Amino acid sequence: ADSYPFHGAHQAGILTPGPADKQSAACYAAFDVTAKNKAELADLMKTLTTRARFLTAGGTPENLGIGQPPPDSDVLGPVIPADGLTMTLSVGSSLFDDRFGLATLKPAKLTPMRIFPNDSPDPAWMHGDLLLQLCANHPDTIHHTIRDIAKHTRGAMQLRWKIDGYNSPPRPSGTGRNLLGFKDGTANPTGTTASDLIWVDDPAEPAWARGGSYQVVRLIRMLVEFWDRVSINEQENMFGRRRDSGAPLDGTNEFDTPNYAADPKGSVIPLDSHIRLANPRTPTTANQRLLRRSYNYDLGVDQNGDLQAGHIFTCFQQDVQRQFETVQTRLINEPLVDYVQPFGGGYFYVLPGVADTRDWYGRALL
Ligand code: HEM
Repeated sequence: ADSYPFHGAHQAGILTPGPADKQSAACYAAFDVTAKNKAELADLMKTLTTRARFLTAGGTPENLGIGQPPPDSDVLGPVIPADGLTMTLSVGSSLFDDRFGLATLKPAKLTPMRIFPNDSPDPAWMHGDLLLQLCANHPDTIHHTIRDIAKHTRGAMQLRWKIDGYNSPPRPSGTGRNLLGFKDGTANPTGTTASDLIWVDDPAEPAWARGGSYQVVRLIRMLVEFWDRVSINEQENMFGRRRDSGAPLDGTNEFDTPNYAADPKGSVIPLDSHIRLANPRTPTTANQRLLRRSYNYDLGVDQNGDLQAGHIFTCFQQDVQRQFETVQTRLINEPLVDYVQPFGGGYFYVLPGVADTRDWYGRALL
């Protein structure tokens, strides 16, 4: 689509558009807040709201008058197109430290991202007071947006880390592929199943947080040169799906449902395959499902001449412990760990939606 509504009970960029038809370009940018007190933080939130409301709708930038710098970079020309832009703003646990007096209002499950066995954490790529997820139809729109935001929020926040993402269209059909060549996103929850798994609606959470969601970002390098030397058989057993079609190993079409009950020993779909560990499809694990909305990244070349590319894993859920951490814990020693290297990311809380033209991000919190 050309544009997505900015106002609503929930922020855009999660279910609108959803993982299956998400925009092809993205950026994840984490910021440190440099605003000095709660009033300045509220001003920052109001500015972010105004910019998001304008940029996601598009239009002609307001002229600042003679002698002032131009109102816009003109990267997108004199009239800014909406270009399918969504901005999704979330907050990290560090925003709730002493600086702003918000400690008692922290979402109940929000902590710094845990370090898991097999992680290679790089502090330069981790955490942040705020996270902006930008998605749009073209990469120049993403660049324009981050530049506009940085310009308007100078002095109140600064970039901590930023990574650009892209996704692939269906090839030849169905769900897009990740950089290991496998269709990625097939078994995502949809419809009301998805809504019921992601939007926070727990009386144990602070009232302001209802309608938000926990967002996990994991920057996961893929050792693609190494992967490309693995036999197709072994690759497919690691995921539990066919590479060409995306079908589970006991099926023929991408959206066939794997039947684990008929294969208790894992002779068709291995017990330690990624899909079987991630979602064993038993009644007791149904509420551990999460919504994935990931992108590919490419950061060029490392010192050894190897490609520095991989996966910006992103998922949304009601409860980061019940969902992401439970699933991630089951995946700790999956065979895939030899081919991937998580090095960054963070845990964030997506603020509830901006309701109307008078509302702003985090109004009920601040
Ligand atoms: C499924 C790839 C990391 C959770 C899948 C599928 C692929 C895949 C190809 C099968 C198709 C699909 O249903 O989407 C990857 C790669 C990863 C990665 C390449 C890392 C580089 C993770 C992580 C988690 C996760 C960190 C969560 C902790 C899931 C879940 C499913 C899934 C829940 C669906 C299983 C089902 O319902 O059948 N992944 N994944 N994945 N993955 Fe991952």
